[in-house]
Amino acid sequence: MTRLVDLEPVDVLEAQVTVGAGVTLEKLQAHARAAGLDFGVDLAARSAATVGGLVATNAGGIRVLRYGSMRHQVTGLSAVLADGTVVSRLTGLAKDNTGYDLTQLLAGSEGTLGIVTRVRLRLVPQLPGRAVALIGLAGTEDALAVLARARRLPSLAAAEVCYAEGVALVRSYASLGAPFAQSFPVYLLLECAAGTDPTDELLELLGECDELGDATVASDVAGRTRLWAYREAHTEAISAAGVPVKLDVSVPLGALPGLVAELPPTVEKVAPGARTILFGHLNEGNLHVNVLDTGTAGTEVTDAVLNLVAAHRGSISSEHGVGRAKARWLELSRSPAEIATMRRIKAALDPNGLLNPGVLLAAGE
Ligand code: LAC
Ligand code: ZN
Repeated sequence: MTRLVDLEPVDVLEAQVTVGAGVTLEKLQAHARAAGLDFGVDLAARSAATVGGLVATNAGGIRVLRYGSMRHQVTGLSAVLADGTVVSRLTGLAKDNTGYDLTQLLAGSEGTLGIVTRVRLRLVPQLPGRAVALIGLAGTEDALAVLARARRLPSLAAAEVCYAEGVALVRSYASLGAPFAQSFPVYLLLECAAGTDPTDELLELLGECDELGDATVASDVAGRTRLWAYREAHTEAISAAGVPVKLDVSVPLGALPGLVAELPPTVEKVAPGARTILFGHLNEGNLHVNVLDTGTAGTEVTDAVLNLVAAHRGSISSEHGVGRAKARWLELSRSPAEIATMRRIKAALDPNGLLNPGVLLAAGE
């Protein structure tokens, strides 16, 4: 009998591990690190997020730039289907072309096709040398220009963006000092990770970037944690300020500066006086759009923002999933043929609609 919070010993030869779906990301990370390895997904909610939830939603987070999203870490899983059938594939073979990939079908299916109970995961090398730069910039275009150059560094591990209003909120919530003598419209956080200290190559890169307004670099744990706090405390600081409308979108990088500029006036039109706070994962064009003080216009804000994103050929849910809350907007991101195919898969695996009804595919259509 295996338990949902089981951690099997790390398979160092394969650099893989099999764990129960109830294991938290933080426990998984500690387990991998104790074996000299690491896990390729990390996100701010690491102490609460479980492996099963991360797989079901195909979570992203701050390391997608380097290692891909959750589905890219999953080499196999066990799941219970709606009729009680257990499908299990936990060997984790690197090459295995024997038909439909049920593991990847279940990853990101938001619990609508089966319940994941156990997961085989790829692990990555532990990279003890880390350096973080927080960079103040005039605009999103400049952040993208710096990122494009930073991609040349093999050690690049994260590229996160936030904006003046969110940083001000974080600073007053977490009692953090100003990162720089002056305030900037945009802040870009870059992290490099390598076997040896990558500080020099990060500094060299910054030296080549004319766009920088100001920059600060830290390689010790305390300094890195302090710089990350400006970005990672956003969700908590926003929740402390009110109940936000939360949207999680992505657009092609070329469309990102336009989206950033158009979002506040788009929100203002349907919810005058609302505060639009943006932060996210720059390399994937993934913005978390959190809107405070929407009053009764929450649905109008969601509708206006998601339509704007669709006009930029973006995704209405970049990494948080569709759930029930966004199901009615799915057609902004997926074609009728795609949605019809998804419904056929759902009908084949869960003909009575027992699993997560109304999630992803809105009921009654
Ligand atoms: C983050 C969560 C909200 O990126 O996805 O902080
Ligand atoms: Zn995120």
